[in-house]
Amino acid sequence: MYDLESSILKAFLLADGAPVSGDRMARELGVSRVSVWQRLERLRSAGFVFDAAPRKGYRLTHIPPGLHPALLDAHLRLLKVRARVDFLPEVDSTNSEAERRLAGGAEAPFVVLAGRQTAGRGRLGRVWHSEHPENLYASFAFRPFLSPDRMQSFTLMMGLRVCERLAIRHALPGLRLKWPNDLVCSGRKLAGMLTEARMDSDQVRDLVFGIGLNVNSDPAALPAEVRDTAGSLAHALGSKLDLHAEAADLIAGVLDAYEEFESSRVAPDPRALFSKYDSLRGRPVSVGLRGTPLSGVAEGVDERGALLLRLPDGSLTAVNAGEVTLRKA
Ligand code: BTN
Repeated sequence: MYDLESSILKAFLLADGAPVSGDRMARELGVSRVSVWQRLERLRSAGFVFDAAPRKGYRLTHIPPGLHPALLDAHLRLLKVRARVDFLPEVDSTNSEAERRLAGGAEAPFVVLAGRQTAGRGRLGRVWHSEHPENLYASFAFRPFLSPDRMQSFTLMMGLRVCERLAIRHALPGLRLKWPNDLVCSGRKLAGMLTEARMDSDQVRDLVFGIGLNVNSDPAALPAEVRDTAGSLAHALGSKLDLHAEAADLIAGVLDAYEEFESSRVAPDPRALFSKYDSLRGRPVSVGLRGTPLSGVAEGVDERGALLLRLPDGSLTAVNAGEVTLRKA
C-alpha cells in the first residue's frame, strides 16, 4: 500500500529540496504518470504540500506533523533498514503490542512504533506520558535464545549506544546516561528505556526493548508531574528536529547495537563506554528499589553493569537494580 508513496517520497528526500519531475519519477518507478499524480494527491490530502515548479516538477515544501508511515519507510529505505517496522497511529503500549506479536509467533526482529500510547509503561510500574505526536514511542522485538547471564548488561549497553549515537549525531556533549537507563541533558530526562523478557527454561526467549524519546515536545506543554523534569532533543538543541529522520536513525541505531550485542561471544563489558556518559560519577546518591534506600557516592559500574556505590563506611557495594535519586552534597 505504501510502496509507491514511499518510493515517491524517497525521490523527494534524495532530491534534497530540488524539484522532482513527475514524468521522471513515473519512468524510474515503472508506473504511469497518472499513478504518480494519484499518489501525490493522496499525500496532499494527508497534509503534505508539493509546490509545482514550472517545467521542472514538484518540490516537497511541507510535511504534516507526527509520523507518516510512507515517509518513515522512505527514510528507513535510505538507511537500508531491513527489519519489519510497523507504525500504529495509536496503541495501548508498543511494548505490550510487541509482546503480543511475539507470543503470536511473529518473526523477529521487528519494530513497533506508535503515534501515541494510551497506556505507555515506564520502569517500576510508572506511567510513560505518551500523548505528544512529535515524540517517539518504539519497541524492538528479538528472540535472543541467550542465557540470562549473557543478557546482564543488555539494557545498559543499549542505552549507552543510543546515548552515544545521539550525542555524536547532534553534537550534544552534555547528553548523559543516568543509571540504569535514562538519557538526561542539563538535568532533564530526554528518554527512558524499558526492557521486558520472557524466559524459556534457561534461555531468554522473547525480548522487548522499548524506548520513549522526547524529540520535539516543549517541556512546558507536558503534564504537570513531568514538566520540571522532562526535556527533549529540541529543547536541548534550541530548534525542532525532523521527526522522521530521528525515528529512522533511532531504529537503525538500536538494530545495529542489538546485532553487535548478540554477535559478541561474551556479555559486553559496559565500563569504558559508561565512563564516557555517566551522569552520576562522584555524586552523592540514594538508590532504592524496595525498603530503605542505600546512600553513598556513585563510582561507575562493574563489568555486569551494576552500579558501584561507595558507602559511608568506605566499602564498595554493587547495586543491580533500583531508582537513583541525587542527594545534596
Ligand atoms: C522509564 O524511563 O521509566 C522507561 C520508559 C519507557 C517508555 C517506552 S515508550 C515505548 C515503550 N512502550 C511502553 O509502554 N514503554 C516503552
